[in-house]
Amino acid sequence: RAKMCAEVGGETVELNGTDVEAPLGDEIARRRNLAIISHPDAGKTTLTEKLLLYGGAIQQAGSVRARRAGHKLARSDWMKMEQERGISITSTVLTFNYEDHHINILDTPGHQDFSEDTYRTLSAADNVVMLVDAAKGLEPQTRKLFEVCQMRELPTLTFINKMDRPAMNPFELCDEIEQQFDLETVPAVWPIGDGENFKGVLKRSERVVYLFEKNQKGKTATTKKVPMDDPELLSLIGQNLYDQLFEDVEILDEMGHTLDTEKLLKGDQTVVYFGSAMTNFGVQIFLDDFLDLGRAPAERSSSIGTIDPTRDEFSGFVFKLQANMDPRHRDRLAFIRIVSGRYERGMKVLHSRLGARQINLNQAQKLFADDRESVQVAFPGDIVGLNNPGLFSIGDTIYSGSEKVVFPGIPSFSPEMFAYLRNPNPSNYKNFKKGLQQLLEEGAVQLLRTKEDQGNEGPILAAVGQLQFDVVQQRLRDEYGVESKLELLGYSVARWVLGPGDPWSALESCGRLFNVFFAKDRWNRPVLLFKNAWNLAKLEEEHGDKLELKPWA
Ligand code: G4P
Repeated sequence: RAKMCAEVGGETVELNGTDVEAPLGDEIARRRNLAIISHPDAGKTTLTEKLLLYGGAIQQAGSVRARRAGHKLARSDWMKMEQERGISITSTVLTFNYEDHHINILDTPGHQDFSEDTYRTLSAADNVVMLVDAAKGLEPQTRKLFEVCQMRELPTLTFINKMDRPAMNPFELCDEIEQQFDLETVPAVWPIGDGENFKGVLKRSERVVYLFEKNQKGKTATTKKVPMDDPELLSLIGQNLYDQLFEDVEILDEMGHTLDTEKLLKGDQTVVYFGSAMTNFGVQIFLDDFLDLGRAPAERSSSIGTIDPTRDEFSGFVFKLQANMDPRHRDRLAFIRIVSGRYERGMKVLHSRLGARQINLNQAQKLFADDRESVQVAFPGDIVGLNNPGLFSIGDTIYSGSEKVVFPGIPSFSPEMFAYLRNPNPSNYKNFKKGLQQLLEEGAVQLLRTKEDQGNEGPILAAVGQLQFDVVQQRLRDEYGVESKLELLGYSVARWVLGPGDPWSALESCGRLFNVFFAKDRWNRPVLLFKNAWNLAKLEEEHGDKLELKPWA
């Protein structure tokens, strides 16, 4: 096998066993990508770290976090803000090899104000892991993100974490998922006790109990396996938990759902795992199953029909843009999800939106936490970062071959907060404009203007949450050297007027409207802002038949 190598920090390293000459189908079959969705604090960082350990990608647990801390000074200040506030704002892609599989973890920000970023990342994922805190059950952010997964029919596995702490009843946890998400649950493992009494899990397909034994510091667990019918089990877990286990298993076997891969792949069923990421218990069972159950890079619909990953012609789409990830390089990256064909360094592709303009891909990068390596070759399911000198927008398609391909765009969340952004220092106008333009390009916030373009009012920023505004202001300051002033507008609901016919004429036909703020977006389409849902309902009641309104466009 011809192994791929790259120069990283002056050393030649092998790149994840990728075989440059392997048939496309083989490389696709061994690829799995996943995004982890969870409410903040459920243990996403911890689980990610443990997963990476299995790939030998990091030498010791804690290094993802340690790297974060260690690179504090090298990272740009807005990332410092992420550390100060204890939230994860950026999404990165982490890659590792395990059991001859090539796994890409698409990291998603946990904070709700960045749902939009997560939403875009989910458009690049083939599988989702829903991480749930065993003591808390489903939390708001998990709910919101799961709705997106359901819309996209993404296969979802569930990992119920922190079983080493007092937990909710496992039936109750499964029931919550069934009721709230209309999703059949199929527990692959079943927990025995919780908190101080957590004894391990039964792997149902093997009828074997994996025993949980914390080491002295409580940071790692050792696993001993005992068949369920081994008489020793009773003394190991005690009479109460033993009785409970057999009772639970009887109920599950008789009343529970059985695995139906078709339902799983369509996102109508979820396979459930219980464990403790912190002590690395139950993670390997989950990972091994994921290789079997998870979907390999899937086909995608496009303007020319379904595109299969094995199609020889290259295609991919931009799902995320990010400027200044590394302040030493002042770079702008576009993250591309490869859908079909093979990426090779230096290849020429066409850009759908720019009238099939040809571009040369010679600078793709793969990211591992803060490190980057240059990519020679990449396959469907992989994510590569391309230098983006203003060429790419979110949702853009690139492709090779004679037939033009366009993948469907990535819709935005409807903004719920609006504010004027002002530049208090006119001599800095150029930097202010440039910074704002780049941040808008990334989709950090949306931009609206007042209907009449009253010069001195400044642009209106529209966001899902306050934190997005904070990031824009902080980044303008740190990366472009400009101060800005924000003046919140008291509106919370936006509706784009899309018709019927010419939207401005449609609006005019309604006569005078009350309790509405008129704005327009970058493409001059009318956007109505309302103080609250009640005002919107009122307008719909009076003029609903004359206006085609959408929460985003
Ligand atoms: P997040 O990325 O989803 O926000 O969560 P993160 O992994 O940072 O975990 C949040 C907290 O929960 C951390 O504690 C982490 O150690 C703890 N945790 C994660 N998994 C488990 C688990 O299986 N069992 C238990 N008991 N705790 C778990 P922290 O005190 O905030 O941070 P640290 O001091 O441990 O680093």
